[in-house]
Amino acid sequence: MNLAKVPSIEDLRQIYERRAPRMFYDYCDTGSYTTSTYVDNSAAFAKYKLRQRVAVNIDGRNLKTKMIGEEVSMPVAFAPIGSGGMQYADGEILACRAAQKAGLPYTLSTMSICSIEEVAKNVDKPFWFQLYVMRDRAFSKRLVERAKAAKCSALVLTLDLQILGQRHKDVKNGLSSPPKLTLPNIINMMTKPAWCLGMLGTKNRQFGNIVGHVKDVGDIASLSEWTNHQFDQTLDWTSVDFIRKLWDGKLILKGINDVEDAKIAANLGADAIIVSNHGGRQLDGASATIDMLGPIIDAVGDKVEVHFDSGIRTGMDVVKAMALGAKGTYIGRAYIYGLGAAGEAGVTRAIEIIRNELDTTMALCGETDITKLGRHNLIMPIPTHILPPPDVPAKSRKAKR
Ligand code: GLV
Repeated sequence: MNLAKVPSIEDLRQIYERRAPRMFYDYCDTGSYTTSTYVDNSAAFAKYKLRQRVAVNIDGRNLKTKMIGEEVSMPVAFAPIGSGGMQYADGEILACRAAQKAGLPYTLSTMSICSIEEVAKNVDKPFWFQLYVMRDRAFSKRLVERAKAAKCSALVLTLDLQILGQRHKDVKNGLSSPPKLTLPNIINMMTKPAWCLGMLGTKNRQFGNIVGHVKDVGDIASLSEWTNHQFDQTLDWTSVDFIRKLWDGKLILKGINDVEDAKIAANLGADAIIVSNHGGRQLDGASATIDMLGPIIDAVGDKVEVHFDSGIRTGMDVVKAMALGAKGTYIGRAYIYGLGAAGEAGVTRAIEIIRNELDTTMALCGETDITKLGRHNLIMPIPTHILPPPDVPAKSRKAKR
């Protein structure tokens, strides 16, 4: 396949859809329940128009900046994605390599297929590690210690998944890693020979951070029993303190999509917060994150670095998030489409596509430096729906209007 001729992330998605087994494609490319937030995340970008400026000298452009003090070749990090190693054999290692070669941060998910140690052994530079707080706090503690031992340079603590928003397709497909050998799954996998060959050539086929690290979790039945009950519903803001005591490195809080939550998070001493609704995979009906980004930056942008996630499929989307004031963005599905389409080369192509779109778009806005983007580059939509939070008494609500 000549990847240089694949022009867009949407084209990569179509190749990925043909190449990957249905259950893993569906796992990636859906949202919870009615998928309204999943759809809105990308669609809402269209409301923010870019200001076209002409006759500006746009020679010598710069996309480099820093995220949490780390140099990045453009402000686009890799979001943590579960089961990456089921999209393509050794997927997390390949995606991390592609990100690092391109000068971008890669975040490994707790629910990855390749373990922290396996990824660390196979890449050159430190990566970031995403943590779910589990009911088994001793397990969470061991995970943090393993991330430290692997020299991870940041911990990304996810706050929006104490309970799973149901994705209907996963239920219908009977999703599991490795896949259950039901008749429909076998028939579907027989139509994906390249994927099967890759999977036969690796030993990484289960959740590598969990299997073998938790007592009595050794096979697929015990694993799903364990994960179903492990996301900790008691997680609250004090849990951030618990993690802070275990981890003295860079800390990023992920999953904030509300001004009041952002204000609390900004006071907890984290290095950054990520405005995210988990790619529309959790609270169905939540606002698109691009609509929450501006109000959150206005509230806490001077206290903490604000990053943006959920819905980015193009370099134009990155420009809009940066113009609103984000200090960095994350791609998730956009790189998984590349991974599922063609492994490391596909991820590299996804990065090139986003980088070219970002560079061209910035130039056509009459800008030469990514760090200088601002709201002057946008024609903002007229806000119609942002109401005061419910904990503000009715009287002061009236006064504020
Ligand atoms: C996990 O992060 C998921 O969204 O499935």
